Amino acid sequence: MLKRITGLFNRQKVTEDENKLLQSIDRNRLPNHIAIIMDGNGRWAQRRGMPRSLGHRAGVESLRSIVQLCSELGIKVLTCYAFSTENWKRPQEEVSFLMNLLVEYLDKELEELHSNGVKINAIGRLAELPQPAREALDRAFRKTENNSGLLLNLALNYGGRREITDAVVKIARLVKDNRLEINEINESLIKEHLYTAGMPDPDLLVRPSGDFRISNFLLWQLAYTEFWLSDVMWPDFKRIHLLQAILEFQCRERRFGGLIKK
Ligand code: IPE
Ligand code: IPE
Ligand code: MG
Repeated sequence: MLKRITGLFNRQKVTEDENKLLQSIDRNRLPNHIAIIMDGNGRWAQRRGMPRSLGHRAGVESLRSIVQLCSELGIKVLTCYAFSTENWKRPQEEVSFLMNLLVEYLDKELEELHSNGVKINAIGRLAELPQPAREALDRAFRKTENNSGLLLNLALNYGGRREITDAVVKIARLVKDNRLEINEINESLIKEHLYTAGMPDPDLLVRPSGDFRISNFLLWQLAYTEFWLSDVMWPDFKRIHLLQAILEFQCRERRFGGLIKK
């Protein structure tokens, strides 16, 4: 099993700690969908006397290794929060750096992601992204559209409130055009009008960086998600951290408001 797990991507040796964690994880009870708020890049850099941009660059390395791990484990969906609807408030320089980094990441990683069966998708108001970013995303979507491995969902210009607002507008339009009756509006109809239509809700949410909030991420979808928070800054977030999160997830009792038969 380990051979299968280590053989796919081109990367460094599996450490002993990682090996132990890999062996402890129950492969039959993996989360279907993992969501990650990739936070702490700026603080990571500033603590080292470096510009925030170098933190973002280091954060891309964490993203690479976490995507690899999820792909190797057979996780179905990985949603990574990369840029929020509120992040436009940052200095223009930082926003441009992040947009360029997105293009660089997609172009550089596309071949390897594609050859490992990863399907790239994005959620958010993509039409408002700069043109080079939209084009890089389109290239990635087109190339990977028929892949059936990990669905890598990048949350870009994403806001949970914006997503719900957009769903309300779409549904209101259907009612106005007499294509939908008000009594047909229910939870599953709303779910199918979110950007995440067709995807399972996240089972596990990971937020590194020591902040205890969801920062407008997946407000509807996180209703019964298990949270795993850590002080580690995203650029320091390694495979072992995600393995620890999954292991802890497997020890949680999920009740969804009901009771567990003992
Ligand atoms: C997350 O790191 C990346 C984005 C929000 C784009 P931050 O840039 O928020 O880093 P901190 O939270 O300031 O350390
Ligand atoms: C959340 O982090 C957004 C991303 C990681 C893309 P922020 O750094 O923007 O969140 P706040 O401002 O700390 O809530
Ligand atoms: Mg932050």
